Amino acid sequence: MDTPSTGYLRGLRSLERELVDPVPLAVEGTLPPELRGTLYRVGPGRWDIFGDRLHHWFDGDGMVHALRLDGGAATYRNRFVDTTAFSEENAAHRRIYGSFGTTAPGGRLHRFQRRKARRNPANTNIIVHAGELLALCEGGRPWRLDPRDLSTLGEEDLGGVLPSPLTTFSAHPRWDPATGDLWNFGAELGRVPKLHFYRWPAKGAAEHITTVTLPIPAMIHDFAITERSLVVVATPIVTPDIPLALAFGQVSYGESLRYRPERGVFVGLIDRATLQAHWYRGAPFFGLHLANAYDDGDEVVVDVSTYDDGGFLSIAYEMMRGPIYTGTTGKLRRLRIDRGGRPIAYETLVDHHFEFPRIHNDRTGRRHRMIYGLTWDRPTDMPRRPIALDLDSRTFTSAPEVAEQWCGECVPVAKAGATSEADTWLLTVVLDAAAERSELQVFDGADLPAGAVARVPLPHVVPFGFHGNWVAEAGTEASA
Ligand SMILES: [Fe+2]
Repeated sequence: MDTPSTGYLRGLRSLERELVDPVPLAVEGTLPPELRGTLYRVGPGRWDIFGDRLHHWFDGDGMVHALRLDGGAATYRNRFVDTTAFSEENAAHRRIYGSFGTTAPGGRLHRFQRRKARRNPANTNIIVHAGELLALCEGGRPWRLDPRDLSTLGEEDLGGVLPSPLTTFSAHPRWDPATGDLWNFGAELGRVPKLHFYRWPAKGAAEHITTVTLPIPAMIHDFAITERSLVVVATPIVTPDIPLALAFGQVSYGESLRYRPERGVFVGLIDRATLQAHWYRGAPFFGLHLANAYDDGDEVVVDVSTYDDGGFLSIAYEMMRGPIYTGTTGKLRRLRIDRGGRPIAYETLVDHHFEFPRIHNDRTGRRHRMIYGLTWDRPTDMPRRPIALDLDSRTFTSAPEVAEQWCGECVPVAKAGATSEADTWLLTVVLDAAAERSELQVFDGADLPAGAVARVPLPHVVPFGFHGNWVAEAGTEASA
């Protein structure tokens, strides 16, 4: 019988080594010479704090990886984000903080005393906006980095808009296609769960726009904007209605979440002109990421990476201890929300796992032709290979599975002279468990079945991370 490989576990070990000076890399195949810029990636660098292993994939201290490509050559650097928790725990030589999925160390009284001092690991996304390089995590404020050496410059408070380290700014901002303004939200947990929305122009002061109350105490990871609306999809992974153990620090946020399909999915449309919020309830699914959203007459179209159940809640713990045994199946779905109130219409776009969805330039709000992502076949596996959905033809293609390889998020970069969104390079950092290393792989988005056109081995295994962006050499805006 075919035994599924668990080689992905190699991507869940801590990496303590920082390579601060650029390391030149050998290139196998041909790197498109037009790729001149830096691929920034971020993810957990360590889950083991002086021998104390954090319990959840999302918990680990953020580490930035920078791959600079220039005319077919490549260099690599990596460095931890020097957050409050990272520096305090390094000085103390022990774990002090709780995390998304791990309680604070110590006994009940100590956990109660430390209940608000949660780790902001700055490990989820890295962007460039308003001339700043920022590491983001939904558990706190952005951390500013120096692009010259990836050193940490400090926490970003957006000119006082995020006044305390406990105010949050999600890892999934979106850029308005019309203005280039960055829009984002921050979640506030508590008896009445809320989302605060922010706008940050590329030039000018950031501002708080509005605050809305969530109809269910759901974890919100992502959002989207359309011309008329801010769009939130609240899937029913929720904290208890009276979260006493969470409030007293006896369980972590991640441990308190449950999948409650009977609550349904709530899609929130916040009118950008009036700031009125309307919520529409639909059939349940679990999901973290929105691929795109746009207005279509009086309807809003939202494409979402979904799962049929809440298995991921267990998977993200299981993988930190050993093989995944809880399976889950995913699909990319389209939701049509009628502002007039007809029930939400669901359509399956790809009946296959489709995670880390990306569109060009992260600018939701208009119809896009292509959605890129990752797919895999076995319910207990991790993302394996790139997938591309062409919404013009309603067909998808994918790269072949390679034994002992697992792909990270694909970042789309338009080819030189591209005439459509299909003319795209996809940049991804891949774990090669057999070779005990990671490598940059570049795919031709228009020909995924051909496999990678270039492979650039890195000096070590890059632990499984989350998101990143390509910053073109002369560019100061996040692209792709
Ligand atoms: Fe994400």
